[in-house]
Amino acid sequence: MGVFLGGGVAQASRDQWSSSFGFLAAAVGSAVGLGNMWRFSYLTAEKGGAAFVALYLLFTVLIGLPILLAELTLGRGARKSPIGALGHYGGGRWKALGGLFVVTGLLILSYYSVIAGWTVRYAAEALVVGMPADPGAHFAAISEGDHAFLFHVLFMGFTMAVVAGGVSRGIERVSVIAMPLLFLLVCGIALYAATLDNASAGYSYYLNADLQNALSMDVVVSAAGQAFFSLSLGMGAIMTFASYLPRDGNLPRESLTIASADFGVAFLAGLMVFPIIFALGLQAAVGESTLGALFVALPRAFAEMGAAGRVVGFCFFIALVVGALTSALSLFEVLVSAVVDELQWARPKAVAVMGVVVTVLGSGAAWNIAVLDVMDQVANNFFLLLGGLMLAIFTGWVMKDPVAEAAGGAGEGGLGLWRFLLRWVAPPFLLFVLWHSVPSTAANVWALISG
Ligand code: PFF
Repeated sequence: MGVFLGGGVAQASRDQWSSSFGFLAAAVGSAVGLGNMWRFSYLTAEKGGAAFVALYLLFTVLIGLPILLAELTLGRGARKSPIGALGHYGGGRWKALGGLFVVTGLLILSYYSVIAGWTVRYAAEALVVGMPADPGAHFAAISEGDHAFLFHVLFMGFTMAVVAGGVSRGIERVSVIAMPLLFLLVCGIALYAATLDNASAGYSYYLNADLQNALSMDVVVSAAGQAFFSLSLGMGAIMTFASYLPRDGNLPRESLTIASADFGVAFLAGLMVFPIIFALGLQAAVGESTLGALFVALPRAFAEMGAAGRVVGFCFFIALVVGALTSALSLFEVLVSAVVDELQWARPKAVAVMGVVVTVLGSGAAWNIAVLDVMDQVANNFFLLLGGLMLAIFTGWVMKDPVAEAAGGAGEGGLGLWRFLLRWVAPPFLLFVLWHSVPSTAANVWALISG
C-alpha cells in the first residue's frame, strides 16, 4: 500500500495518517476487539448459535456497511472531530449529535476498560502462574472489586500513553504492529482448535442454525446492537479516524475492507472458542452463558490441556489484550479529539482530563459486574442504535450530495444504492429495533437501580 503524498490541503496543525495501511490498521483495530472475541462468542452461545450469526452478518451488510461509509465520508470531508463535522455539514443543531457520541464514548470506554483489565490480568497470569485451579472462583474474585479497579486503571494508563503520542506517532504506530499480530494469533489458535478431538461438536453447535430462535425480537435486537458495536459504529469513532485522512483514498473500498476484516475475526473467534469448549466437554458452561462464561470455561479448558494449554491460553489472552487496546484507542480518540477541536485544549491536557473522567466513571463497573452488564446493554441496545439512526437520517436526508462526497472525485458507481439504504432501509429498521429494545433495556436499568 502506498504512502500518502499529501492529497488535499491539510489543516495547519492537524495530524494525518502516514500511510493508507496505517489508517486501515487503525480502523480495523478499532473494529476488531473484545466485541469480536468476547461479546460475539457469548452472544452466539446465548442467542442460539448460527441463526444469530446469520442475522448479525445480514445487519452488518445492510445497515452497518452503509453507516460505516457515512462515517468515513463525514469525517474525511470535514476533517474535524464529530461535533465539528456534523456542524460543518448540518449547522449548529446537528452538533448535538456529536455531543451524543461523546457521551456514548464515555459510557462505553469506561466499562470496556474494566473488561480489558480482566484480559490483561489473565494474560499475565497465564505467563507467570498458569491457569487458575478453580476458574469460577477466580473469575468471581478478580472481576469485581479493588483488583478489577486496579487493572482498569492500568489499562487506561496504556491507552492514555498511546493516545498522548498523537494519531500518526501513537495510534498508527501501535496499530500497524498490533493488528498483524492479532490476525496471526487468532488464525494460529483456530488451527490448533481444529486438531482437537471432538472439535466437530463445537463446529456443529456454532454453525447449525436454530431458525426458530432467530425469529425472536430479543435475538434481532442483540444482533443489531452487536453489528454496531463490533464495527465501532454509531458514536463517531470511525468518523474521528477518517478526519485524519487525506483526500485521495477510496472510501467505499475501505469500508468493505474494514467490515470484512471485522466479520472475519468474529467468525474466526467462534472457530477457536467453540471447538475448544466442546472438545473438553464444557458445553454446560456455554449453555448457561453469561458475560463471564468465556473467562471461566476457556481457562478451565486451557488448564485441562496441560502445557500446551498454557501456551494457547497465553496467546488467546494476548490476542484479547491487543484487540481491546486498539479499540480503546479509537474510543478514547473520540473524546480527546472532541475537546482538542472544540475547546482548543492541548492534547496532553485533553488526554489527562478525559482519562481521569473515564477511569472514575468506570469504577462503578469495576466494583459491580451487574453495573457493567447494564452499561453494556444501554450502550449497545440504545445509544449506538440511536446514534446510527440519526447518522443515517443525517447522511441520507439532510446532507447535500453525500454521493459526491463519498466518491471524492472517483466513480460514483454503486453509491446510489448506498444512499437508498441510508434513506429507506436503515432508519425504519433502526426505529423498529429501538422500539423493541427500549422497554427491555429500561426494565433492566430499573431492576439494577431498585436492587
Ligand atoms: N468495535 C469494538 C469491539 O468490537 O470490541 C468496540 C468499539 C470500539 C465500539 C469503538 C465502539 C467504538 F466506537
